[in-house]
Amino acid sequence: MSESMRGLNRTHYLTEVSESHIDQDVTIMGWVQKRRDLGGVIFLDVRDRTGILQVVIDQSSIGQEGFQKAEKIRTEYVIAAKGLVEKRSEETVNQNLKTGTIEVRAHELRLLSEAETTPFQIEEDSNVKEDLRLKYRYLDLRRPDIQRNLMLRNQVTQTTRDFMNSEGFLDIETPMLTKSTPEGARDYLVPSRVNPGHFYALPQSPQIFKQLLMLSGYDKYYQITKCFRDEDLRADRQPEFTQIDMEMSFVSVDDVIEVNERLLQKMFKDVMNIDIELPIKRITYKEAMDRYGSDKPDTRFGLELVDVSELVETCGFKVFTDALKNGGSVRGVNGKGLANLPRRQIDALTEYVKTYGAKGMAYIVINDDGTLKSAITKFLDDDVVEKIIEKMEGKPGDILFFGADTNDIVYASLGALRLELARRLDLLDKNTYEFVWVTEFPLVEWNAEHKRYTAMHHPFTMPMEEDLHLLDSQPEKVRAQAYDICLNGNEIGGGSIRIHQRDVQEKMFAALGFSQEDAYERFGFLLDAFKYGVPPHGGLAYGLDRIVMLMAKADSIREVIAFPKIKDASCPMTKAPGVVDEQQLEELSIKVDLFEVED
Ligand code: AMO
Ligand code: AMP
Repeated sequence: MSESMRGLNRTHYLTEVSESHIDQDVTIMGWVQKRRDLGGVIFLDVRDRTGILQVVIDQSSIGQEGFQKAEKIRTEYVIAAKGLVEKRSEETVNQNLKTGTIEVRAHELRLLSEAETTPFQIEEDSNVKEDLRLKYRYLDLRRPDIQRNLMLRNQVTQTTRDFMNSEGFLDIETPMLTKSTPEGARDYLVPSRVNPGHFYALPQSPQIFKQLLMLSGYDKYYQITKCFRDEDLRADRQPEFTQIDMEMSFVSVDDVIEVNERLLQKMFKDVMNIDIELPIKRITYKEAMDRYGSDKPDTRFGLELVDVSELVETCGFKVFTDALKNGGSVRGVNGKGLANLPRRQIDALTEYVKTYGAKGMAYIVINDDGTLKSAITKFLDDDVVEKIIEKMEGKPGDILFFGADTNDIVYASLGALRLELARRLDLLDKNTYEFVWVTEFPLVEWNAEHKRYTAMHHPFTMPMEEDLHLLDSQPEKVRAQAYDICLNGNEIGGGSIRIHQRDVQEKMFAALGFSQEDAYERFGFLLDAFKYGVPPHGGLAYGLDRIVMLMAKADSIREVIAFPKIKDASCPMTKAPGVVDEQQLEELSIKVDLFEVED
């Protein structure tokens, strides 16, 4: 039996009711979190998005009929109640509730909607399996912690809009049904009915369109928009995610960074009441790799990488000297205070770095009495060992780990080791927010699979002026006017100054191994447009989901997205993606012929 709410108007959200309303009548509505039946009196904890308020139902105020109604109420029923706000007696005050000192004694009650027993309880910090939570996401979304996350997200977008408007950025929408965009992931394709055999691509970002808007004279653009990338999902990656995207004309790297620092400062002040000191630290890509083994360094703690290549160049340990002969390096990380790490944990760490390509991990334990324990010191002269310890600032109680391999593998494995050690040492404080700009990225990187260079950022990224002359001959040496903004080891945003000169763009395509035809096939309209007067321009895009995840101190962006996908990019609730019926396919002139794909 469901009743209408006719004649009742909600007067307050639940936690808006306060001691200032004592002896006044209020009308409240919400879901029943809990019902306690003490015989003649029934207590209801009623919940809405603001929190919880206690409603008291007793026969003398509500009458026989009303009381019988209340007896039927179960968890998650939706009710409306009108009643008098009363102060609770001392011993019944609930310190955990904002409304814990008051209650509403109902004299009218309506059951607006009944509810079946929910598959899991609606409560904070639930440890229900994620698959189940996402299958019933509409119930999961009732949980206060998720509601807080989505409200936080709303605050971030609102404050962003305020800032962008005040800075003169125009919010302009760009298409969702479009051609391939240049971010380098796989596209999601949408078949065209009226153009049989033709497909739209969903945008991986608004990149090309925002550049065209600069060419069209809009000067400053922004948009908070969905992007689509068919890539392997992780905690910080979804197939559709949201960018705060922007582009500006007549700007340098410093200009883009300056306005974005103020945006971040406002965002963190307004939403988190955290003061970010400006300017934000900047380090070059090279320094980030050398010190942290990562282009998204977590600077909340030390445990930095130390290059010991020079010290071991002529040593007797073949693993080290071979790595150096092959153009690689030998680097170490000082595991501060971890000398007592049991052997099996060292082995586990070794297995862990092997997942990053390392072939092994050498170590030197510095015992508390200063003696050393190591399988490799026998291959090294005493003075070499001494210099290594000195360079790595080894002290009694420390353990020094070493990786020897190509630079890529050493960075990846020691970068991962550094983070793993920080986890073990409990150094990853979610209440600390450390920002860092990473600048001067390489323009291109070698793609071993395709045996060609690919753009590290995207093919419209402008080289640094001082490296332009290397673009034809040694593109791998060219640094780009590209920058990422990292927060606690997460890449929360990235951008660049764009190429606005045709000759440079052509050289860039050549470096990437695109023929003129390839380039025209993919981005011809942009290249054509660039014949007609282009302002120098640049911009940046943030991963909104990642920013909100870090603000919410959540471990995955799924916690800050209303309806996310799971690992295989499906949605357990809607069961998307699904098969479609024959007729739909026929209209699209599509015949599905599934063949097995080899891994
Ligand atoms: P980029 O590809 O670096 O740059 O993307 C910008 C930011 O978007 C976030 N991000 C993601 N978040 C969740 N799931 C994903 N799959 C995902 N992929 C990226 C990251 C990243 O820093 N057009 C350029 C920007 C520019 O040059 O202006 C671009 O898209 O936080
Ligand atoms: P081995 O002589 O092969 O027993 O190796 C001696 C030590 O060097 C062991 O702790 C190995 O894990 C370590 N080791 C092997 N390969 C590497 C490598 N590429 N980098 C660093 N240490 C390594």
